[in-house]
Amino acid sequence: GEWAYTEKLKEHFESPKNVLQGNDTSAFDGVGMEGNLQCGDQMMVAIKVDKESEKITDCQWKTYGCASAIASTSILSEMVKGMTLDQAFNISPKEVAKELGGLPENKIHCSVLGDKALRAAINDYFIRNGMSDRVQKVQARTVCQCMNVTDHDIEEAVLE
Ligand code: FES
Repeated sequence: GEWAYTEKLKEHFESPKNVLQGNDTSAFDGVGMEGNLQCGDQMMVAIKVDKESEKITDCQWKTYGCASAIASTSILSEMVKGMTLDQAFNISPKEVAKELGGLPENKIHCSVLGDKALRAAINDYFIRNGMSDRVQKVQARTVCQCMNVTDHDIEEAVLE
């Protein structure tokens, strides 16, 4: 059948950007780890933050996830550089998919993996810097506004 992936997705899968080399994250200011309920894949995202401006200066990641997870997180790691923590926290999987030129419907759950790990990394930064009051829930995020569907709902539905 048709090759369902866009050129942009293939490009990021073949040459992923900002992949963390090794396992040492001590140079980073926040680290987040997330698993995907559906496939059992894991993702780690590590960020460096400029304390004054709260802007992300570096974002690296590592996953054992699939091609879609790799491409989505690669593009996400490029998108968040220069964003404030609040802006980055609010990036939606939809925006990431849009940057990739679209994702097959059954692959959307893969793109939320990097997004979730990024939010966990931001929360980790807040905790490390004595701002626990700014920690927000990572799970159950609204993916589709009109239907009020969350990423958790999607993972549950796929599991059934
Ligand atoms: Fe596991 Fe895509 S199938 S992240």
